[in-house]
Amino acid sequence: METNTEIKRKRIFSGVQPSGVLTIGNYLGAIKNWVTLQDDYECIYCVVDMHAITVRQTPADLRRRTLEGLALYIACGIDPQKSTMFVQSHVPAHAELSWVLSCNTMFGELSRMTQFKDKSQKHADNINAGLFTYPVLMAADILLYQTDVVPVGIDQKQHIEIARDIAERFNGVYGDTFVIPEPYISKTGMKITSLTDPTKKMSKSDPNPNSYIQIIETRDETIKKVKRAVTDSGSEVKFEEGKDGICNLMNIYSAFTGKSYDDIEKEFEGKGYGDFKLAVGETCADKLQPVRDEFARLSADKAYLEGIMKEGADRAAYLARKTLSKVYRKVGFYAKPQ
Ligand code: TRP
Repeated sequence: METNTEIKRKRIFSGVQPSGVLTIGNYLGAIKNWVTLQDDYECIYCVVDMHAITVRQTPADLRRRTLEGLALYIACGIDPQKSTMFVQSHVPAHAELSWVLSCNTMFGELSRMTQFKDKSQKHADNINAGLFTYPVLMAADILLYQTDVVPVGIDQKQHIEIARDIAERFNGVYGDTFVIPEPYISKTGMKITSLTDPTKKMSKSDPNPNSYIQIIETRDETIKKVKRAVTDSGSEVKFEEGKDGICNLMNIYSAFTGKSYDDIEKEFEGKGYGDFKLAVGETCADKLQPVRDEFARLSADKAYLEGIMKEGADRAAYLARKTLSKVYRKVGFYAKPQ
């Protein structure tokens, strides 16, 4: 119950696209922190299906992954009693605010977004307008909920910056409307890279499945992939320049065990890469096992998941509507007669 004496908790918003399997990069870089943050913040976590269609999707897969995304949030420890979880396309205010914000965003600033440049290169046959205005929709996601803090991986920092710029510009022109959001980039697991090319980010859209560890896969698959991970020709487990592969595995191991680089170097002193890789693979699989079990249990209970989905959307829509009404008033839209 809300009382006057209750201190208003700061609000968190974040989201992941249901565009592919989720990897330990998503888990360590984002979702694991979301779980911790639930106790101190009012958290809203979204499955951003509207962002996903900026790249061509198979409709049946997108639909299935959306429900799986929600199941995975819960399996990872997001508690529906504490946090709001919902699907972006269930709350029309995201698209509506996105339009207004796009009229307050400059062509030039969108052209400078590195993700746009990367994705247009990767999908040269489908450089659609949605790919270009992607950051505006993301700004709408964040600003609709008067979000204070946005926990994301380092690759999303530029998108938070543009959301702040858009909010500041809008507030400057129309008067105070939006809270200016802060990025929160987690220290551990912030740069989990590909197992097959450790100079690249681990990505769920990489065509080579050996390049990533999925949150949901078998123990054997995880262990096998880590065993095959690309490492340099040396033999010492040491965190140093030029050893991208080993550094990446050390980051993964550290994120799952809480051990420092020093601890890890000592633990594997005099042992080879083989021993280290086995330990990383096994630890990773062991730590993920409870999530994997819970995901399997939840997946069998569609009615429960849909209940959470509906409740989340209702609550999100209520909060979003408040901001959207304010925005419509500020820009001069005539209020629909009641
Ligand atoms: N762009 C984010 C990503 O690809 C996903 C996202 C969409 C998001 N809207 C958001 C993250 C709002 C944080 C807040 O990872």
